Parts: sequence; C-alpha cells; structure tokens
Amino acid sequence: MIKKCLFPAAGFGTRFLPATKAVPKEMLPILTKPLLQYAVEEALDAGMSNMAIVTGKGKRAIEDHFDRNLELEAQIQGTQKEVLLKEINAVCNNATFTYVRQKQMLGLGHAILTGEPLIGNEPFAVHLADDLCTSEKDSTLTQMIQVYNKYQCSIVAIEQVPMNQTHKYGVIAGDLIDNTNDTCRVTNMIEKPAPKEAPTNMAIIGRYILTPDIFNILKQTKPGKDGEIQITDALLTQAKQGSLIAYKFKGKRFDCGSIQGYVEATNYFAKQQGII
Ligand code: G1P
Repeated sequence: MIKKCLFPAAGFGTRFLPATKAVPKEMLPILTKPLLQYAVEEALDAGMSNMAIVTGKGKRAIEDHFDRNLELEAQIQGTQKEVLLKEINAVCNNATFTYVRQKQMLGLGHAILTGEPLIGNEPFAVHLADDLCTSEKDSTLTQMIQVYNKYQCSIVAIEQVPMNQTHKYGVIAGDLIDNTNDTCRVTNMIEKPAPKEAPTNMAIIGRYILTPDIFNILKQTKPGKDGEIQITDALLTQAKQGSLIAYKFKGKRFDCGSIQGYVEATNYFAKQQGII
C-alpha cells in the first residue's frame, strides 16, 4: 500500500513574479483553489493520507492553508459562506501533513532526497503541483498505483510532446511491455535534451511512484543538467537495473508552471463549472 505522497514545493516560481514575491507559487489558485490543494486532493483520491511537503524560505502560507483556521470558521459559522471552507476542511481532517525545509535549491533530485526523513523505507508517490491533471475516471496517481501494484518498481508518468518541446522535460526511451500500449520498460532517459539529442518525444510529467532505494541512489548522484541533482539521472540507475516503468497516463495535463498553461487551466475549469 502506498500511503505517502511527497510534494516538492521549495522553488521560487520566478516565472510568476511579482505574484510569487510573497506568495508561494504552489498557492496560486486555479479559480478559488490553490494548485497544491488540487495536488493533495489527487493524492487523497488515490488512497494516500500522509502528505510530505518539502518547503523552503517564504512558504509558511502552505502550512497555514492545510490547518484549521478557527477564528475564520467562527466568523462565518451559520452564514452562507460556511460551505466555502467545506472542501479544505475535509482535506485537513482526512490527511496528515509533515514538512521539511530544503535549505538550498540544488535540484528536484535534492528536494526529493530532502524528503527522506518524512518518507522512510517505503514506496511513495511524488507529485509536482505545477502539472495539473484532469481525467474522466481515475486520477493520474490512481492509475499509476494500479501500474505499481502490477510491476512493483518505480513508475514515471509520460506524455507525448511536440519534438520542439523536449528541452523542457525529462525524456525517456523504452520498450513497450507485451500486450500493453501504454506501459514500457525504460531503457534510457535524458534530462531536458535539445530536440536533436532527444531519444523520443515521450516526456516525463510531474507524477512518480518511487521505491525507497532511490534515496541511496540520489545520495550518489552527481549534479547534472544546469548543475542540479536531477531525479531523472537517479532514475536512469533504476532503469539500467530493469526496474523503471513509464506509463502513458489517461487524461489531460496543464503546465501551470507556465503562464499559458495556467491560463488554459483557468479557462478549462471556469468552463467546466459554468462560470464562462
Ligand atoms: C522537472 C523534471 C523533469 C520533468 C518535469 C515535469 O522539471 O526535472 O524531468 O519532465 O519536472 O514537470 P521542472 O519542470 O521542475 O524544470
């Protein structure tokens, strides 16, 4: 059973300045709900109840968001506004939150390693709140847990991207597993390759299921692309051992780390809720 989900949330979010000068980028809302709340709800939906959040300087609003605010509740009690806190209070009541601060931003791999004391020696999920996914049926993490239950090794979610976008993602190559058209065993992966260096256009999106041996691998992983400790490089070690699966998830992803993706997600949800 996978019970814990790790949320790296230490980055500055410079692309959204000045909005992110004092507000954590994970707290930017799509309509009225912060990105990180969508993320935690996806993990809860997939059966996880322990949310491990890697924060950093200037991220205290995250802890306040996932805590009760009794003064506010008292203020709106008995009014029509009470219902507005229903969803977030359900999240607070159904999950446990633990935090650790990443003191220096040394890359996604380093952020995940910083979360080790919160995870311990068990398989866990990693969710990057920037990548907001919607699906008709099972959420992306729910789909990935089903894949994990079958193969019992690390899993990355992938999506086909236009070839001229490979420099934004970890890109994989792999062999389709017999009788599937959405699951392959990874043979190679490169962090943010230029199109001519990319082995395919299969890009990793911000959902992972990781086995805990990844922590020892990360401890030995040297800085890679952009001088950062990359999770992609650590996962290549697992891939070489034959223990990494890439799964083409079913659903739609919005890259809310970009202004364009953020606006697209906002429009999508606004239309869905009949606001526009
Ligand atoms: C990170 C990973 C990259 C992955 C991406 C998914 O990059 O390093 O391999 O494809 O997340 O969103 P970032 O977007 O943090 O630069």
